[in-house]
Amino acid sequence: MKTFHNPEQFQREMEKRRRQKTIGFVPTMGALHEGHLSLVRRARRENQIVVVSLFVNPLQFGPREDFKKYPRTFKRDRALLAGEKVDFLFMPSAASFYPGRFQTFVEVINLSRGLCGRFRPGHFRGVATVAAKLFNLVRPHRAYFGTKDYQQAVLIKRMARDLNFNLEVKLLPTIRDQDGLALSSRNAYLTPKERARALSISRSLVWAQREIRQGRRNLRRLRRGILRELKRGLSRVDYVEFAEPETLQPVGSVRGRFVIAVAGWVGKTRLIDNAIMQRKTKSGKRKALEPLRGN
Ligand code: PAJ
Repeated sequence: MKTFHNPEQFQREMEKRRRQKTIGFVPTMGALHEGHLSLVRRARRENQIVVVSLFVNPLQFGPREDFKKYPRTFKRDRALLAGEKVDFLFMPSAASFYPGRFQTFVEVINLSRGLCGRFRPGHFRGVATVAAKLFNLVRPHRAYFGTKDYQQAVLIKRMARDLNFNLEVKLLPTIRDQDGLALSSRNAYLTPKERARALSISRSLVWAQREIRQGRRNLRRLRRGILRELKRGLSRVDYVEFAEPETLQPVGSVRGRFVIAVAGWVGKTRLIDNAIMQRKTKSGKRKALEPLRGN
């Protein structure tokens, strides 16, 4: 595995490679876990060259957010990626990635308004901008994202289309611990007690999925039930939303495909999760697109 820190050198190498081989790209902020590795493994299967970026992007953190304390485990991350036979690792410094007079940003207007966008102003502008820059540096054939960060995933997919990045954005399901907790680098902040409380997030989604499968359609009641479960563990709930999967607009009824997205706080740690529901199957049962389970 070859590591690059300098964006220009890295771009030159990528330019050379893409002429001969297909490139699969996985952007990350490090503190890698099985969720990240599931993306890397898929990229490995589908491409001749696998590129991973590891960059804690200052642009997507608010002034009172956790940029400084975000877990940094570079040595371990590098070993994990080498173990997955990653070909290139890109780890720029913030100064080389955003040089002095940097002033150009990418905004995906509507998709960044709702859900987490309401609570993290500027966050998705930072995400879209770093993704666009990384896509330009790597120019991958395919890029891999997790639906754990559902809003981010659809927003990047939209951005890639809108700005004619000639690549395929692949969205992969959420990897969870045995007990249902969605893997996240931020789980590292949780004390054992807080981790136990965080389980109310996946429990609330499992509960809702079961209710919906059993034919409950009253959105207000479902929302109340989810909130009830969330409040057992969380110190604060940011939102519980039922959204259309592509536009992220709120849905008015439990019909067709939709996403249940939740966000909230356990102590000082903000966590998000979601469940994607799809249309009824032939047998008349509503199926979870992405059943909540351990691995
Ligand atoms: P990061 O949180 O490191 O996540 C990198 C990728 O891993 C994202 O596509 C994310 O959705 C995916 N991922 C995280 N947890 C997952 C899980 N439990 N199961 C499956 N996939 C999971 O998301 C970012 O970094 C940044 O915003 C980034 C896109 C790199 C831009 O800076």
